Amino acid sequence: METRSTPTPAFDMVLFGGAGDLVMRKLLPSLYQAHNAGLLNEQGRILALGRKDLSRDDYLASVEKQSRIHIKSHFDDAAWQSFCSRIDYLRVDASQAADYPALAEKVGDDAGKVVVCYLATAPNLFAGICENLAAVGLNRPNVRVVLEKPLGTDLDSSNEINDDVARFFKEEQLYRIDHYLGKESVQNLMAIRFANALFEPLWRREWIHDVQITISEELGVGSRGDFYDGTGALRDMVQNHLLQLLCIVAMEPPANLEADAVRDEKLKVLKALRPFTEHDVAAKTVRGQYKAGASGGQPVVGYQDEAGIPAGSQTETFVAIKAEIDNWRWAGVPFFLRTGKRMQERLAEIVINFRDVPHQVFTGPLGGSHHANRLVIRLQPEESIRLYFLAKEPGDTMRLQPAYLDLDFYKAFKVRRADAYERLLLDVIRGKLALFMRRDELIEAWRWVEPIMDTWAASTNNPPKQYTAGSWGPAASSALLSRDGISWHEEC
Ligand code: BG6
Repeated sequence: METRSTPTPAFDMVLFGGAGDLVMRKLLPSLYQAHNAGLLNEQGRILALGRKDLSRDDYLASVEKQSRIHIKSHFDDAAWQSFCSRIDYLRVDASQAADYPALAEKVGDDAGKVVVCYLATAPNLFAGICENLAAVGLNRPNVRVVLEKPLGTDLDSSNEINDDVARFFKEEQLYRIDHYLGKESVQNLMAIRFANALFEPLWRREWIHDVQITISEELGVGSRGDFYDGTGALRDMVQNHLLQLLCIVAMEPPANLEADAVRDEKLKVLKALRPFTEHDVAAKTVRGQYKAGASGGQPVVGYQDEAGIPAGSQTETFVAIKAEIDNWRWAGVPFFLRTGKRMQERLAEIVINFRDVPHQVFTGPLGGSHHANRLVIRLQPEESIRLYFLAKEPGDTMRLQPAYLDLDFYKAFKVRRADAYERLLLDVIRGKLALFMRRDELIEAWRWVEPIMDTWAASTNNPPKQYTAGSWGPAASSALLSRDGISWHEEC
């Protein structure tokens, strides 16, 4: 994909929504880290755009205040000052064509420089922004556009946004971001699968019993109630992050790591996902909504009492799904997907449960153990890979005990690791598309989730199941797996 030492070319990073939450919380802190690591070209400039009439100094003061909160590592004043010398602020109302000539003038017309326009705004502005950029010539080949999710709320609206954007930009200029693909362990999963002879022969239905992918969050909807209530966990997390992780687990080995080679293989997986009938939605999905409970030892309110949530909302804050992939490699292997807010822990992990040995020679409690072999790929809070197996307990009996081989990346590789946004921003500047979604992937992902969305929307008499904040979700989520004789990893 990329080597850390590849220098970035000269660039202008134009941040639409420059005073917004994403820019303050993720994008500027990530660019600061890249700057500190010496990864940004000296000719790299950051131009933040916002509707407010702020001076550069005022903008920088507000950025510094927020960055001191959001930059996790040591905040170095000298490094900060040198980073700030890259940043400028321009008052631009993204919806006003009249504001764009000033932007074009700031950016200039150096064809040797990469121009990245990061649309960290509401998606209903995307079409207008692209049209306004094109009107001032900012759609020439050296301009790249980063599109943040949500790209639509269903297949039709997603197609509409993509059609609008495609009127002004070619597909290879579009970087549809899914920050989960920028996480180190996701790329490590590809390394484990495709660089080691050990796993690939076992990576199929003959040897794998089931796959579990969990992204659980401790936080509730916080101040995003308004947005979240019209979205829900299926659109917010499953349609993108969880399906992308599933693709990385399930795809065939690509011929190389070129963007389209990887994306072609992911697309095949999305196309092979078994479509849901109404009956399947009832039998193979669980939707939940948190009620009051506790988080981090403190009492917390239920979803219905969060700010911005209308009374009686049926929006799901939890989803569990049994997905199936209809192809030779995966026929009959369930892929269980789960995500939720206000869960017991913040955790993202992929669990591969291998089949049991065909004949047991050991007796005793673990002799016929289910899932003695399990590969657990942790994405967060820490990044690690653990391979579980059974070993003999020391002593003169032949008793078995579970043990594991642990690859803790923090300990194994004592180098700084970029966070997801940093890696993806560098990839955009370098023109690496492999970790961004192509339009056809997006379409297939929407096609797959739509019947679930529609069936849920029509089942008003069967609302989401309540779960206590701070738990692992509704009991029905465990029942979904127990029908296959298994349980979620943390319940084992
Ligand atoms: C975002 C969702 O895409 O991902 C948020 O919109 C969610 O609702 C977030 O909280 C989770 O990302 P991470 O990297 O913190 O697990």
